[in-house]
Amino acid sequence: MRHERQVELLRRLKDVDPSGTWPLAPSSMRNPAKNYVDPDHFERERRILFRRQPHLIALSCELAAPGASITADLGGVPAAIVRQRDGSLRGFVNACRHRGAPVVAESAEPRPRLSCPYHGWIYELDGALHSRPYAEEAFADVPPAECALAPIAVAEGYGLVFAQAEGGADLTADSALAGAETEMASYGLENFTLIDSRVNEWDFNWKLVLDTFTESYHIRTLHRGSIAPTYLSNLSFYDAFGPHPRMIGLLKTVLKEIEKPSEADWNLLPHTTAQLIFMPSGLITYQRDHIELWRVTPLSADRTRVRTSLYAPTPPASEKARAYWTKNLDMLVDVTGREDFPLTTQIHAAMKGGALDELIYGRNEPALIHLHRSINAALAAGGA
Ligand code: FES
Ligand SMILES: [Fe+2]
Repeated sequence: MRHERQVELLRRLKDVDPSGTWPLAPSSMRNPAKNYVDPDHFERERRILFRRQPHLIALSCELAAPGASITADLGGVPAAIVRQRDGSLRGFVNACRHRGAPVVAESAEPRPRLSCPYHGWIYELDGALHSRPYAEEAFADVPPAECALAPIAVAEGYGLVFAQAEGGADLTADSALAGAETEMASYGLENFTLIDSRVNEWDFNWKLVLDTFTESYHIRTLHRGSIAPTYLSNLSFYDAFGPHPRMIGLLKTVLKEIEKPSEADWNLLPHTTAQLIFMPSGLITYQRDHIELWRVTPLSADRTRVRTSLYAPTPPASEKARAYWTKNLDMLVDVTGREDFPLTTQIHAAMKGGALDELIYGRNEPALIHLHRSINAALAAGGA
């Protein structure tokens, strides 16, 4: 983030009472519980939000070498993204044109060609069929050109990789970022290295994962035993880029920063956790010395897979350095897994059981309101 922008944001703090609450949305919002638990509503979300919108899949460093790949489930469409020899990316439906087996495994090493684990068909990195070993004659009446993997749209820029299962002919990183380009460029994400990822599944609706990260209001109470002593619970910065809300959580040390007499000495980033939610399924966190990416995959209205990845600014120089980052990732997954998500499971159960008609988002939760307005607007625009 440019220094100028950091100062601009810090100036906002000058005008508020640090013991008060700020900033407030113009009005609160009520969201019907059925939006979280109704299977028909979920099917519409899968079709409209998860198949027809771009999704943030990974940082570019996760698939740097030719033949490296990553897989994702985009609203029930199995997708694979593969790095080409010329450095570009291609995306495919990850289903073999023979009888549908996934051609790219979840954690595959870079390789010169893709091969199906079922009967061994071989594909080029660009998805064209290379050969059908031991069975060319059996398929002589099916032209190879009709057996290429079906393409899906991918885009890369600012060190980020996006994919869209349906449509997306015009997809670019800029269009997906919807105005967050300058900020993403300032983080230099192209230079980061993946440390590791953790995948967990939870019994709650996918939106509740994002809800967890979209306000700092709960820090004082829910996290009183962990992060509350270091973070401000009542103050955070809220902005938005198109449909994507951004919330910057503030460490208490930020209040000392604005006491420095010269603005030229002010620095915001050392005192923040900046979270940009890529509606609908991704959350990228710029956390002082590292980046986190949370990718949300809905399995049903009531079950969600969460992939948490941590990236360091440079490759770890030693085993000790790697252990430091791995511990950081495990702590992150541990705090959310012990303090946030068990409660989230109970919230979902209350809605599922019909005990609660709606959730209320307060004026002190503006990023949360923005997120749900974006989701509801995209669904409304997506038709019946
Ligand atoms: S399903 Fe892939 S080779 Fe048969
Ligand atoms: Fe939390």
